[in-house]
Amino acid sequence: MAVREILKMGDPRLLRVAQAVTQFDSDELHLLITDLLDTMRAADGAGLAAPQIGVDLQLVIFGTDATNPRYPNAPVVPRTVLINPVITPLGDQAGAPPSEIEDWEGCLSVPGLRAKVPRFSRIRYTGFDQFGDTIDRTVEGFHARVVQHECDHLIGKLYPMRVRDFSQFGFTSVLFPELVDSPDD
Ligand code: NI
Repeated sequence: MAVREILKMGDPRLLRVAQAVTQFDSDELHLLITDLLDTMRAADGAGLAAPQIGVDLQLVIFGTDATNPRYPNAPVVPRTVLINPVITPLGDQAGAPPSEIEDWEGCLSVPGLRAKVPRFSRIRYTGFDQFGDTIDRTVEGFHARVVQHECDHLIGKLYPMRVRDFSQFGFTSVLFPELVDSPDD
């Protein structure tokens, strides 16, 4: 168990396309997940991807509860370990094309900043948990946003690369002064 260093934007390891996990339920995998959880909790993150601690694997964790000081108004997202994920954008109703919505995001690898980022409002995501059991969920809103943000880390994308309107990009301390209890973000 350890809190690991979180790589910051500019580190080329954040720009890699991560490798698929091929071995489930191994000691090595469980140790990695423990480290990711410890690191996410220590930083009050809503999610963390393995590449953010320098591990080149398709593995993300995410989850929020009502007490997260970085996202005090966010809906609860169940704590999830998601491996080798695949995201499918969905329309809001059957037959409708996928639609996007913009909302504020931050990232532990981009400390001190927030931006409005467009994401699909509704998605299906599939993958595996650490034991190799299948995960298959259809979600929307903040949950869908968190999954898309974290899975972007697995293809070398940080949220500033998704920003379209740079007038909606700034320092957390200026945009949301009430949130400045975590100096790193
Ligand atoms: Ni991030």
